[in-house]
Amino acid sequence: MCGIVAYTGSRPALPVLLSGLKRLEYRGYDSSGIAVETPDKIAVRKAKGKVSELVNLLDSDEGALDQSTCGIAHTRWATHGPPTTENAHPHAGGKNGIALVHNGIIENHRALRQKLEGEGYIFLSETDTEVLAHLVDSKYEGSLVDAITSALGEVEGTYGLAAVAHAEPGKLVVARRGSPIVIGLGENETIVASDASAIIKYTRQAIYLDDNDIACICGSDLDIRSLGSGAVSRATSEIDWSADAAEKGGYEHYMLKEIFEQPESIRNTLRGRMDADRGNAILSGLNLSPRELADLYRVLIVGCGTSMNAGLVGEYAIEDFAGVLAEVEQAAEFRYRNPIIKSSDLVVAISQSGETADTLAAVREAIDKGALVSGLVNTVGSTIARETGRGIYLHAGPEISVASTKAFTSQVSVLLMMALKFARSRRMSREEGRQMVREIKAIPELVERTLAQNDHIAKVAERYLDCTSAFFIGRGYLYPVALEGALKLKEISYIHAEGYHAAELKHGPIALLEASVPVIALCNKGPGQDKTLGNVAECQARDSRVLGIVTEGDTEAMAAVDDYIEVPDCPLHTAVVPSTVALQLLSYHIARLRGCAIDQPRNLAKSVTVE
Ligand code: M6R
Repeated sequence: MCGIVAYTGSRPALPVLLSGLKRLEYRGYDSSGIAVETPDKIAVRKAKGKVSELVNLLDSDEGALDQSTCGIAHTRWATHGPPTTENAHPHAGGKNGIALVHNGIIENHRALRQKLEGEGYIFLSETDTEVLAHLVDSKYEGSLVDAITSALGEVEGTYGLAAVAHAEPGKLVVARRGSPIVIGLGENETIVASDASAIIKYTRQAIYLDDNDIACICGSDLDIRSLGSGAVSRATSEIDWSADAAEKGGYEHYMLKEIFEQPESIRNTLRGRMDADRGNAILSGLNLSPRELADLYRVLIVGCGTSMNAGLVGEYAIEDFAGVLAEVEQAAEFRYRNPIIKSSDLVVAISQSGETADTLAAVREAIDKGALVSGLVNTVGSTIARETGRGIYLHAGPEISVASTKAFTSQVSVLLMMALKFARSRRMSREEGRQMVREIKAIPELVERTLAQNDHIAKVAERYLDCTSAFFIGRGYLYPVALEGALKLKEISYIHAEGYHAAELKHGPIALLEASVPVIALCNKGPGQDKTLGNVAECQARDSRVLGIVTEGDTEAMAAVDDYIEVPDCPLHTAVVPSTVALQLLSYHIARLRGCAIDQPRNLAKSVTVE
């Protein structure tokens, strides 16, 4: 949830650290800090608020730190202690001139703190990270890597960390357990980060540390050990997207850019995976033998937030087309309720980041229980992608805005391909398969036509920006769209919003309807539309203004609602995508008109790596 950057090499470290922090700001943005080596000490600077506050603070140093060529940096999303300058990272350890940044949680921090206070250590913050910094200091006898190795032996919890020691100039030590660390290999330099977007400007050659790895780095010299088992070698991989992909590219916000990227990101998701002739999907990452496919008893889909909403579309499509039992479950619930899992069950873990703590824990639970486990992940090299082994990458490119948009539409596209594949191995004819291939291949164009409504959607948004609360309703495939529409609106505009099955509204929520509470109704043509239009009339009878998502040219639906946004005419399983895109734009414009911090909504972080 927080972001780490570290640098050692021949150029000044500060610009690399600050540019990395700006890239990682989407991961956490309540405070930030840097620690760089100077001839007489490790200089630490920290500021509450955005990275720009830290930049202002550094400007007042008048270049004092500009010559340093080694340092660490952090942007924080508070867990232990409020977002203050004292709680910001880096934290200094005791008397040995050690500074450390950390993502994750040290679970036994209270006991360690008590012990260290007993040894005379004085704490300046409320964080678990300062405990780690002092613990490392207490072990230090001239070798930072040995001190960290020894300290980590006493630590319970998760970490991605980077540290420097004044007595060892030019040296970085980084380690990982449960929180990602990627090492970017440059010429005579190394850039470390918690996320590849911070290193891509400098190099595409990257090593992803495994859990329990600890690396000692000096310039471009790299030595990786696994805690407890000595030296290890880790493969170098090439980051397959460019620095431009992580830029705003002229858009006002990353979210808008990512919404508009969707025709392309979905094309990238589909590329090479549609067999038009055989009417099938090619999902080689799934790696299921014909026997495993035939024996498949049930598909269990786990995820959180937007990824879970996409999973619901998958549940419907897999049952609908393939006749295979499918269920979607919130990953934390799946993990803790001791689910019954058979070896003929396929657990599909959906995660944009591939690092969400609950989804990762669900993956481990499913593996332990002997299920087949597949990861549907966007971030290459992420933990879920690596641990599932049967990974299907989304190839949607980096998603920087905290509100997930293009990941959802790529997740839905893959789930539809999965449904097709399972269906073709069971009961769907080649001809029907070809038809479904055509429908899936049409999705990018459906999105293009919806994006063309952007100006109209911006105008519609003006009529809804003052509401106090909103309900989103839909049925069948459009029910997950209602959930996702409500999630998007609440997280970026701070308007209270709930997604409901259209039939459920009468069972309680209707009590809240009044003129200041609009309803956004998914009224696309198809099964259930007549019933939803009936629900629309019920809402209007309670004075709610109704905005309908309607099928192009459907005059009956248009007449039934107060405002409408048209989306292309297509089957409901693919209408999910353009309808969601319309709601993404609606939320975006409402949030923009309300002056919200769209890419970095309050209290949120892009990747939720704590439970
Ligand atoms: O990286 P993941 O897909 O696992 O993240 C899951 C959720 O945290 C994420 O979708 C969250 O709900 C987004 N903020 C929604 O826009």
